[in-house]
Amino acid sequence: MLFHSLCSLLALTSVLSLTVPSTGQLARRETLVEAAHNARVLVKDVKTGTLASVFPDATDLAGRPFAMMEYHAPCYSNGSLTLILMPISRSAQNIFQNPGHHVAYTVSMPTEGVRSPMSRGRVALMGNVTTLRDISSSQSEELAKCYTAYHPDSKYWLPGDNNSPHTSYWARLDIDRIYYVGGFGDIHYIGPIPVDLYAKSENGLQEEYEIKEQDGFGFLEIQNDMNEQVVF
Ligand SMILES: *[C@@H]1O[C@H](CO)[C@@H](O)[C@H](O)[C@H]1NC(C)=O
Ligand SMILES: *[C@@H]1O[C@H](CO)[C@@H](O)[C@H](O)[C@H]1NC(C)=O
Repeated sequence: MLFHSLCSLLALTSVLSLTVPSTGQLARRETLVEAAHNARVLVKDVKTGTLASVFPDATDLAGRPFAMMEYHAPCYSNGSLTLILMPISRSAQNIFQNPGHHVAYTVSMPTEGVRSPMSRGRVALMGNVTTLRDISSSQSEELAKCYTAYHPDSKYWLPGDNNSPHTSYWARLDIDRIYYVGGFGDIHYIGPIPVDLYAKSENGLQEEYEIKEQDGFGFLEIQNDMNEQVVF
């Protein structure tokens, strides 16, 4: 495990400026509070993710999952993400046509050149998507400024642009559940992150944070305990 630990540690510090145990403290595991901040850094540093949605009732694949690469931009200090939705995309249709507008969005650390990609951090952000149809032009300009800072190529398909090849809308993904896998569990946190902790962890560690009983947080933990006992 020492080899794995060293590998993931080197990989982490070389690509992303995450908060990890220093080399002198290999035995120390990433804490929940560190994981919350590291997840925020990850979502800022890595500009694409995988958007998972569910086929709506009206389709012959009703209830089945669908996942596709997507762009996101972390334009809200509380962790909500800005997306551009195009009605022509399958993901967008699934979101529009499902009453809860629920998605899961996963962002992963790059794995190129990493001996064990499983040692790399990833986070699944679960929540729902609100289409921002009636925003003012100044709000739209602000979103465009933030979004194009992360995705310069998106200037060709921004919402409201008459030259865009497709209709598109600004949308916001609000998060209500988070599941984080920092890497290998000997030195990384693996498990749920409370949304309120994530929301406050953009600029640093929340040293004072106390875990409260929360919907979703407990639920995901119970699921994990059960998974250990599943016989395949
Ligand atoms: C974050 O801000 C957005 C936009 O104001 C809001 O809809 C969302 O509920 C907030 N999320 C959290 C976790 O506070
Ligand atoms: C997203 O979920 C929140 C909280 O459950 C709810 O108030 C809101 O209406 C939902 N938004 C959409 C677009 O379904």
